[in-house]
Amino acid sequence: MSDKLNVDRSVELYKRACELVPGGSQTNSKRATAYAPGVWPIYFDSAEGCRVTDIDGNTYIDYVLALGPITLGYCYEPMDEAIQAQLGKGIIAGLLSPLEVEVAEKICNMVPCAEMVRYMKGGAEGTSAAARIARGYTGKEVILNSGYRGWSDIWAAQAGNPGVPEAFEASIEGFPRDDLNALEDLLKKHRGNVAMIALDVAGGTAAPKEVVEGIRKLADEHEALLMFDEIVSGFRMAPGGGQQYYGVTPDLAVFAKGVANGMPLGVVCGKREVMECAKDLIISITYGGEALSLAAASVCLDIYKNEPVQDHMWNQGDKLREGFEAAARANRVPFRCYGPSVMHSMKFEYDDADLAGKVWTLFLQETARRGVLIRRGGLLFITYSHDDEAIEQTIAVVAETLPIIAEAVEAGDVDDRLLGGEVEESFRSFA
Ligand SMILES: Cc1ncc(COP(=O)(O)O)c(C=O)c1O
Repeated sequence: MSDKLNVDRSVELYKRACELVPGGSQTNSKRATAYAPGVWPIYFDSAEGCRVTDIDGNTYIDYVLALGPITLGYCYEPMDEAIQAQLGKGIIAGLLSPLEVEVAEKICNMVPCAEMVRYMKGGAEGTSAAARIARGYTGKEVILNSGYRGWSDIWAAQAGNPGVPEAFEASIEGFPRDDLNALEDLLKKHRGNVAMIALDVAGGTAAPKEVVEGIRKLADEHEALLMFDEIVSGFRMAPGGGQQYYGVTPDLAVFAKGVANGMPLGVVCGKREVMECAKDLIISITYGGEALSLAAASVCLDIYKNEPVQDHMWNQGDKLREGFEAAARANRVPFRCYGPSVMHSMKFEYDDADLAGKVWTLFLQETARRGVLIRRGGLLFITYSHDDEAIEQTIAVVAETLPIIAEAVEAGDVDDRLLGGEVEESFRSFA
């Protein structure tokens, strides 16, 4: 095996991108500097099933999967057929698409809280619309939020982000997701003025069931709406999302990644009484009824309903986790998987954070070279197309890589083994 993965064309193109695109990419978490710069692929040429091929001609088993939207697999045939069939009939028109109704009915049948539905094009649009609906419905202003909800002012105000008016900061406050006492204190602090509690039940780790139930109870006691951001958990933890998995029904929910296997569609849904107020609010987008994504969603939802997609993802995730952790034990590497197996997080538990960061870079460098793409820390996404062969091959690659890590840490020469450039953190979450 050659020492260094050839990603020359990717690196060259990215140099041009950095002159043209602030940050080099449209998604902060996809910036090349966040992976193993110079020794990790940057641009894809094609993708099929669970594999992606870069513009230098290397093919990998992929666990980054566009950061979550790919659930069935790349170029999944029934999806592609549905998109092509709709393409022949038109993308969007002045008249509405019947698919708007068809997909809404399927979502309402699958998602516990869904009685009415509006479509968006992405997650941040969806969570922003949910915030507008919650404030419009309750007449209250404050949002208590745990985690990343998207780039808009409503959410970025929580991080005091440059470019967001300072005045917005008073309208949102963060809480640590699993701390019911902290949430209760905030509800008391803003008594009578909390429009909505927003959270992602499985961001990084899965919340304990009693916490999710406790948050529901606190929301009711304080007459605040409860919104689940199901952008990652939706159609992954269960066909009906985290709310089905936990058996706790929120008032509002937002889905995006996963609703149409990569086609750009966001969904805001919730209880009829709450959602109905959206009719009178300024929530309107030109592309909401774009029919290619709706055609894809319609088929995707049928597959979720009729096939064991989520069971498959859980099973394959369990196998990966067991395989990774067994290899870690065998090589005495302090590596751990945590969170739900459909999308587990991973950690190198070295006390020295700088060393842990460099070990991650070495891990990415060595796994990519052997044909596997894993994201620093996870989430490790899985699709319906990750068959046993792919899983076994991945475990074998990790089992070959961890001894290299052990040896490098033992010898104190991790730096010397890094063949690429500097890594930069590219994404900051809110709380
Ligand atoms: C939990 C969660 N909420 C919201 C978003 C924002 O979604 P989008 O990037 O589609 O706007 C993301 C994106 O990563 C997410 O993971």
